[in-house]
Amino acid sequence: MAGTKSPEDAYTAAPFVPDGADLGALREAAAGCRGCPLHRDATQTVFGAGDPDARAMLVGEQPGDQEDRQGKPFVGPAGKVLDRALDEAGIDPDETYITNAVKHFKFTYVPERGKRRIHKPPSLRELAACGPWLAAEVELIGPEVIVALGATAGKALLGSSFRVTQQRGTRLEGDASGPARGALIVPTIHPSAVLRADDREAAYEGLVADLRVAAEALG
Ligand code: URA
Repeated sequence: MAGTKSPEDAYTAAPFVPDGADLGALREAAAGCRGCPLHRDATQTVFGAGDPDARAMLVGEQPGDQEDRQGKPFVGPAGKVLDRALDEAGIDPDETYITNAVKHFKFTYVPERGKRRIHKPPSLRELAACGPWLAAEVELIGPEVIVALGATAGKALLGSSFRVTQQRGTRLEGDASGPARGALIVPTIHPSAVLRADDREAAYEGLVADLRVAAEALG
């Protein structure tokens, strides 16, 4: 019914995000986040990791199966592609901070895949619910450039009208009132799109080219 509020409208991490916390305290608090139902099936919260003084911050979609088990972002196959591409673009992966727009793994089971947990994209409301964690990370890291990895990260940082195919490899300004706090954003494809592409080499080269835009912005 038009105008009816769904329970998802009430999803928000805001009450779980402590004021004035440092990164360690934020990570601890995020472990207990119950701001949306995704915590119920996930193993744990996967908070951001990396250099707290990073000039470049990378934002993915949500943890995958391996990240959910290990509690760290981008430790699976997509992370390996990303590290190689960053290096090739002239950005030292060890000097970045990496996180996800959504901090819990969302998945489903499909009968033909047995016990395998199959990634499910987060809804816009789950994305918005997790926004306060991302905003707090951006605030504390204060990056010069944020690389949005894929459509979900782009929507989290730039709004729901973001289109990765049209806006990748460009320099954009994050909305001052959104999680990006006015920082410079360079969107690109998600590294897992390279792994799924028919022409992996071309997709990988495209990722590197976009990351070079971020590297140039860093000077
Ligand atoms: N994909 C993501 O978006 N994030 C991860 O941490 C792993 C895979």
